Amino acid sequence: MLFKISSAALLGIEGYPVDVEVDISAGLPAFVTVGLPDPAVRESKERVRAALKNCGWDIEARKVTINLAPADRRKEGSAFDLPIALGFLAYLDVVPGDRLRDFLFIGELALDGRLKPARGILPIALMAERLGFQGIVVPKANAREAGLVRDLPVFGLDNLVQVVRLLTAPGEFTPCRFSLDDLVAAAPEALDFDEVKGQYHVKRALEVAAAGAHNVLLIGPPGAGKTMLARRLPTILPQMTFDEMIEVTQVWSAAGLLQDTGAVSRRPFRAPHHTITDPALIGGGLVPRPGEVSLAHRGVLFLDELPEFRRRVLEDLRHPIEDGRVTVSRSAMSAVFPSAFMLVAAMNPCEDVFRGMAGSKGGCTESEKARYYSKISGPLLDRIDIQVEVPEVKFRDIVSREPAENSASIRARVTAAREKQLARFKGRKIYANARMGPRDIKRHCAIPEEAERILEMAVTRLGFSARAYDRVLKVARTIADLEGVDDISTVHVSEAIQYRMMDKFR
Ligand SMILES: Nc1ncnc2c1ncn2[C@@H]1O[C@H](COP(=O)(O)OP(=O)(O)O)[C@@H](O)[C@H]1O
Ligand SMILES: [Mg+2]
Repeated sequence: MLFKISSAALLGIEGYPVDVEVDISAGLPAFVTVGLPDPAVRESKERVRAALKNCGWDIEARKVTINLAPADRRKEGSAFDLPIALGFLAYLDVVPGDRLRDFLFIGELALDGRLKPARGILPIALMAERLGFQGIVVPKANAREAGLVRDLPVFGLDNLVQVVRLLTAPGEFTPCRFSLDDLVAAAPEALDFDEVKGQYHVKRALEVAAAGAHNVLLIGPPGAGKTMLARRLPTILPQMTFDEMIEVTQVWSAAGLLQDTGAVSRRPFRAPHHTITDPALIGGGLVPRPGEVSLAHRGVLFLDELPEFRRRVLEDLRHPIEDGRVTVSRSAMSAVFPSAFMLVAAMNPCEDVFRGMAGSKGGCTESEKARYYSKISGPLLDRIDIQVEVPEVKFRDIVSREPAENSASIRARVTAAREKQLARFKGRKIYANARMGPRDIKRHCAIPEEAERILEMAVTRLGFSARAYDRVLKVARTIADLEGVDDISTVHVSEAIQYRMMDKFR
């Protein structure tokens, strides 16, 4: 007897339907799984047998064939346990075989029949909604993420017995539902800019960066607060929209990183160590999984000790930064992951870390700075609009009792500036000034003649490249937007030039 149960698998961050076909007949006892299963899928038979037995359903020896269709895609993981178990239960007449196509079933079974959470439930639920399923049955721990999907009834259940009950007495169950507010409330912001004393100049630079989505490089001695400042950048970026949360949660779900809050409702902050491998940063794996650049999607990717990263790794960052997405190709399949993040990089002013610190033999010399700076990949530096020095915090700022401005009020200004940009680029894919191309810059970044002369001087005196010139214009545009004015002034341009002072070392 053949039963078909609807389930799904993941390719990249997209779900695709998988039909689990369970064929059971008399004959020599055997258990075969076909359709490119990985070892975890093949081991399913042991878990399913044990779970069924422990819930009181014994299947005597039979000839069992399981096919996972489409058969030409590699399937991984243990989330087919539930649909496979349902095939047996239909064979035993415990559940009605004709209802197994109405819902989409997914979940790993513990040996006692409990349902264990699986990866990629949100993308799969989105797919189920698109394909018009009557509902989706998932492990309870996955209910929140699936519940984000608006027009799909979600049943988050504890164990196999409950699934049977749902199929035999559906009236007893109500689908679960979660709202945006629930999610945001479930994950309160833990950090705030008001904890950072002094450093007004750096905070201003970060506000400008946030306002225009400009990448930033922080240069300063150990202990100056670079990491502390970078970690707080997500708290001044505009609140994520619902659609952005879905995008980000999809990536985190596919990576298996969702915690029990069930969704990523705050902009992510990712800080991979400089020893990170290429696949871990960019994405990879037999069945492609997102890398750090994608986990940082819509948030911040922080690269501490930038010169310590291998040059190749840094150069591989160019595409995700430029395109806002990465394609991960493996022999059999390729997947596209989003990667629209803000880059914050940090470094010491020179190789000798003690030199920059207070009480040392003095700061780094210009030539030491130049040598250290030249270690960073040029093409990556070209994609960083704002460079800012982070000096050690002044003693009088540390002891000051004056309260610093909090993240919420900085965020309000940033959000207003972003709204101006969204209006400017309406109908385009550009969401902030940093994403402007040469033609947009021509169109939106006209500057007064006086500013033109100052810029010219910077080019000749500081050796700005043509690229640096464009970056100054973009940042000046953002500074004007923060002020809420349409025309860029000389003051705006002068401030933007301040953020390119490291260019003299190139
Ligand atoms: N401006 C500041 N205000 C308050 N605390 C600070 C400030 N700068 C540094 N600190 C303290 O010093 C610690 C070290 O800062 P950190 O961000 O790790 O420095 P860096 O990354 O530049 O080496 C922080 O965790 C914080 O406790
Ligand atoms: Mg640090």
